[in-house]
Amino acid sequence: MTDTAAHVLDPVGTAQGALVDTFGRTAKDLRISVTDRCNFRCVYCMPAEGMEFVPREELLSYEEISRLARLFVEDLGIESIRLTGGEPTVRRDLDRLVAMLAALRTPAGDPVEISLTTNGSALTRLAGRLRDAGLSRVNVSLDSLKRERFLAMTRRDAIDEVLAGIDAAVVAGLTPVKVNAVIVRGHNDDEIIDFATYARDRGVQIRFIEYMPLDASGSWSLEQVVSAVEVVSAINEVYPLEPVKHGAEPATRWRYADGLGEIGVIPSVTNPFCGDCDRVRLTAEGQFRTCLFALDELDLRHPLRSGATDADLAALVTKAVWGKWAGHRIGRVDFIRPNRSMSQIGG
Ligand code: GTP
Ligand code: 5AD
Ligand code: SF4
Repeated sequence: MTDTAAHVLDPVGTAQGALVDTFGRTAKDLRISVTDRCNFRCVYCMPAEGMEFVPREELLSYEEISRLARLFVEDLGIESIRLTGGEPTVRRDLDRLVAMLAALRTPAGDPVEISLTTNGSALTRLAGRLRDAGLSRVNVSLDSLKRERFLAMTRRDAIDEVLAGIDAAVVAGLTPVKVNAVIVRGHNDDEIIDFATYARDRGVQIRFIEYMPLDASGSWSLEQVVSAVEVVSAINEVYPLEPVKHGAEPATRWRYADGLGEIGVIPSVTNPFCGDCDRVRLTAEGQFRTCLFALDELDLRHPLRSGATDADLAALVTKAVWGKWAGHRIGRVDFIRPNRSMSQIGG
């Protein structure tokens, strides 16, 4: 442990070294975006053309990310780290960053779980290398099992690479492999049972995600959201399900009554889980966000590059988390969309 824990700004005398907010939540999970770039252009995330990307020099280097991650793990109570994007595998030598993060230890001496959310297109090439570097597991996006539909949703004809990538992740032992499907009404809601069957056959966990208003084109509407309840009842008709006890994660899990694995649903819109939220985020250019839907960010890159000490950085972060809001208000009249889309925030 570094010497910063003792100096962490502690607004109300809460436990030293923990990221606590005024609603009593403690952040334990850090999502780090390594790039806002992507080799896909999913309709619910990016525009087909004209996306502006962060200039290279504004991206945090792997060394800068590691410095912040070490502070979060050693002094601020973070226990797990997920790498996101954009598409994290488009950033060169991602395994080098994974190895740097995998070397971190909590004050109790425990390693940090390092996971990755990816579109899967590079996994046949990278799964083994990432595992060897210390990656624990991957979540892979897959929005259709049909070639044409996959192309329409991602604007890339890459279904073969992604399916092979999921298999490669299983073979590499990056398990449990979770497959994320964002269900958009009128686009892929007729594939719910096919997804369930596919996942049962492959031994992966399929998660159905409610479409959130974070698309770049601003075309989201409530009518396009397929609720978690709708998904669970459709699957339950074919493969009977039983609930699994819920923790702090966004996904609510259900197991197949016949024992052949489980599914997850992420009901961000119809049943927000903000009350249990244990996460914070760092964008690719070093902005710290206390919520996926936060309207303001804390710039860490500037202090990082102008000589801030660990204690200075810890104080800034602790204060920001203390001010974390109760949660988003999607679907309510007072909901305000963040001015960044999913690939810029980091999922
Ligand atoms: P696990 O650690 O495997 O549970 O991962 P995860 O489900 O937290 O992460 P993943 O990157 O696979 O994200 C799945 C979906 O959950 C994506 O649509 C994310 O945008 C969404 N998600 C992740 N974190 C949050 C959050 O804090 N709030 C909301 N509303 N959605 C989130
Ligand atoms: N709503 C819900 N999930 C989304 N994702 C990207 N955009 C959206 C959205 N508008 C998902 C991706 C990926 C994860 C990082 O976020 O499918 O699984
Ligand atoms: Fe790329 Fe992921 Fe956005 Fe699709 S959802 S465009 S794969 S960042």
